[in-house]
Amino acid sequence: MSEGISQPDAPVVREGRAKGDLFAKFDDLIAMREGLLASGVEDPFNLVMEKVLSPTRAICNGRETILLGTYNYMGMTFDPDVIEAGKQALEEFGSGTTGSRVLNGTYQGHKECEDALKEFYGMDHAMVFSTGYQANLGIISTMAGKGDYVVLDIDSHASIYDGCAMGRAEIVPFRHNDIEALEKRLKRIPAEAGKLVVLEGVYSMLGDVAPLKEMVRVSKEAGAMVLVDEAHSMGFIGEHGRGVAEAQGVLNDVDFVIGTFSKSVGTVGGFCVSNHPDFEIMRLVCRPYVFTASLPPSVVATAATSIRKLMHGSNKRAHLWENSRTLHKGLKDLGFQLGTDEPQSAIIAVIMPDLTRGAQMWEALLKEGLYVNLARPPATPANMTLLRCSLCAEHSEDEVTTILGMFERAGKATGII
Ligand SMILES: Cc1ncc(COP(=O)(O)O)c(C=O)c1O
Repeated sequence: MSEGISQPDAPVVREGRAKGDLFAKFDDLIAMREGLLASGVEDPFNLVMEKVLSPTRAICNGRETILLGTYNYMGMTFDPDVIEAGKQALEEFGSGTTGSRVLNGTYQGHKECEDALKEFYGMDHAMVFSTGYQANLGIISTMAGKGDYVVLDIDSHASIYDGCAMGRAEIVPFRHNDIEALEKRLKRIPAEAGKLVVLEGVYSMLGDVAPLKEMVRVSKEAGAMVLVDEAHSMGFIGEHGRGVAEAQGVLNDVDFVIGTFSKSVGTVGGFCVSNHPDFEIMRLVCRPYVFTASLPPSVVATAATSIRKLMHGSNKRAHLWENSRTLHKGLKDLGFQLGTDEPQSAIIAVIMPDLTRGAQMWEALLKEGLYVNLARPPATPANMTLLRCSLCAEHSEDEVTTILGMFERAGKATGII
């Protein structure tokens, strides 16, 4: 794990910093941001959506923009049944619970949401958290404490690293998606120690899928418990949309599946599902579940309705795969460098030469009427600057063709292709 903010050999020191100003540790980042804005590009990390028209369209800077960076994979945010469920719950149960799940914050809707998750995954237990971030934070820190080991892919999401830090387990990272490296790390850990292997189904920076079948087998042979974060695969990957573990036939060997409502489900919230017979004790010992307010009734009502609809989402899943294949091939044919050789998920990462040109390309696309995510180090692997595109099942074939035309014009205008 990276040790917080790393200091370069010759750190930038901001003029006029008062002695003891704790913001000094961010001087490099502040300088980088100011440098970027001084080059005249619009701030890529401060875009305002003035109005949202649909899962694939919004008004940004006064113009209608196609959304290709929302992780709204299944396009559930404007589903009429989902919206109706939210409105009804808002009227019947009020705007918020004002309490923790273990006190006054468990309403009928939270139970219904957990029932929907149990049915969706075919698992015995489900626990809803206020965000996916808190689900990882809570489960990892509660399961792996001092003296235990968490073995994780080096490219793991920040919430996974933060869960490890909170639990104070030994962190053992291994090279991204490398089965042999995982096996070697596991062999080095004392046989009697508690071990949790943490994997993701789809890694969101490059949109690549983990070899879960082999990784789960290797982990189980070493006597480790396994947690898989399916944030970017739920609803889309696998026959029933249960994720990469389902697609690779290892869902029943996984001890904990973590997910979020902020992507395919189309709202906010997080969860963990499990078949472990003692799982329910989590509700009493998991601090990010106990010491925070529960989700508002309208949110859990929209989530439960969306999850139930996703159980019958096979047509949408097929269309989303079609979109992913068309965009991937189109961008590759145009000469863009992509994060994966073949489309593996609904995320397609376009690799930029550097941050300045990445920001110029991002802005050129926005001017064309297309929103994508700009990602930069340290969030990205290998210090890459990426334009991350996430497709939606509601993007039409025509929209994908339009998107490719926008990439071609913007790519030529900025000299990227
Ligand atoms: C892999 C992964 N896990 C967890 C999360 C956190 O989800 P949430 O937005 O619900 O906090 C994200 C969100 O980006 C993610 O990409």
